Amino acid sequence: MLNDIQEVLYGANQIQQKVKELGQTISREFEGRNPLVICVLKGAFIFMADLVKEITIPLEIDFMAVSSYGQSTKTSGVVKIMKDLDAPVQGREILIVEDIIDSGLTLSYLIDVLERRNAKSVTLVTLFDKPAGRKVELEADYKGFVLPDAFVVGYGLDYAEHYRNLPFIGILKPEVYEK
Ligand code: PRP
Ligand code: MN
Ligand code: MG
Repeated sequence: MLNDIQEVLYGANQIQQKVKELGQTISREFEGRNPLVICVLKGAFIFMADLVKEITIPLEIDFMAVSSYGQSTKTSGVVKIMKDLDAPVQGREILIVEDIIDSGLTLSYLIDVLERRNAKSVTLVTLFDKPAGRKVELEADYKGFVLPDAFVVGYGLDYAEHYRNLPFIGILKPEVYEK
């Protein structure tokens, strides 16, 4: 598995430090708002778990699974809801937790869904941002690291469902998927 990594971009300690800072900022921002923190499965599961431990105010959590990449390194352009939220979001202050924004299609779709369900507010936090990949205009309210235009895996992010368990984020060797 480690053999397939071309370059480590951010290690576990650097990520941990950044997640801590994001948690502190979010704690200040959402004081008294009882946010509903939504994890975008599957990619965001590790970031979500680490982030909520750094948030010091009351909150609720829920999970939504959406997928558009499948077994490919390129977005299919079609965002599918694999698992929906358990509870209504009407009137709630939402914090969406995402691992990465690339084309922006996943989050623009999700924001649209939540706004149509009458959420009171929708705020975005992403650990990684790849601005070079954008197909729709979309900016996170809070972001951790800006990444180069390369296919990355680890810390929740996959290629064909693998590599999610790597504790760092790294560039996948193109020879792994260029076959
Ligand atoms: C990946 C990633 C983000 C999204 C970002 O999810 O976890 O959710 O793509 O790409 P975008 O900005 O181009 O939409 P994926 O569809 O691979 O599902 P997964 O989280 O289950 O891996
Ligand atoms: Mn995802
Ligand atoms: Mg994926």
